[in-house]
Amino acid sequence: MKTTGANDIVGSLSPASLPDRAITYAVDLARSVSRLILRRIERTRDKVNSEYNLLHWQNVLSSKAWIKAADLGAFLAPPNSNESLRKVDNQILRISGGKYYRYRIGALGELIARHCGDTRRIVELGTGYGYNLFALHLTHPDWTFKGFDISPNGIAAGREIADHFALSDKISFGRIDLTDAADPSLAEIEGETAFTYFCIEQIPYDVRKVVENIIAAKPKRVINIEPTTELLDLTRPRDLVSLVYIRSVDYQTQLFTTLDELERQGRIRIIARERMPFAPNINNDGFLYCWEPI
Ligand SMILES: C[S@@+](CC[C@H](N)C(=O)[O-])C[C@H]1O[C@@H](n2cnc3c(N)ncnc32)[C@H](O)[C@@H]1O
Repeated sequence: MKTTGANDIVGSLSPASLPDRAITYAVDLARSVSRLILRRIERTRDKVNSEYNLLHWQNVLSSKAWIKAADLGAFLAPPNSNESLRKVDNQILRISGGKYYRYRIGALGELIARHCGDTRRIVELGTGYGYNLFALHLTHPDWTFKGFDISPNGIAAGREIADHFALSDKISFGRIDLTDAADPSLAEIEGETAFTYFCIEQIPYDVRKVVENIIAAKPKRVINIEPTTELLDLTRPRDLVSLVYIRSVDYQTQLFTTLDELERQGRIRIIARERMPFAPNINNDGFLYCWEPI
């Protein structure tokens, strides 16, 4: 199906040619194989802290790009003419970063609205600095959002951005460690619709624990959007590229099997299963399960 606004932005683009895809996949595969052989690092808590809290979110916090942006839309999708292969409406296209991120705002809004039922309150677990929540605000300005993350720098950046765009009453942030059953913020999920977006990928050794902690918090509904090796179709070249990439960066590989097992045990009801129609690259598109505790 077409996602909201996709035609306006990418309608004139055609799928990437076979040679373009073949070269891109081969280069990506070679990079992942060399990472696997030479410097594969276990995705421990320290590794995630140094990659996200101390690097990506620290850079976001110190660059303060929102101050220079004309508005929230320009902050989320700044002009960027660098083209690369990306997944757009289930097709692999060569498209600029600027166009992709403008399209993604509409596509994410359509996706979450389709799965969240009639709620107007959304929680994101592992939100970083809240990129997804700010994007959702653009398509659903009447909704309110809460974002939780383990990273102090992500939370600090999210709060500054909300403040800058006068959105602190609509988008708020707090700290959570999803691996800790005693974390007080887990209580804030009770009765809410919560989603994860490429968060559980970062916690490969605690997937079962994280899922149990979320169930125990009694959310109304959960939408997990995460990459995985579990659901790849290894007869397709791009899925083979994804498999080697995910192994080389040590992302999670058990979430969807765990959810299927919990459904068989009668502990959750899975409402939807689908593959993500968009991704910023060719090697790591997510899968979506939408479910409710029973
Ligand atoms: C790949 S980023 C995704 C951020 C955001 N969902 C997005 O799409 O922009 C993964 C996030 O998960 C967070 N995270 C990792 N381990 C966590 C944990 N145990 N509890 C809560 N958040 C965690 C990281 O700090 C990071 O912000």
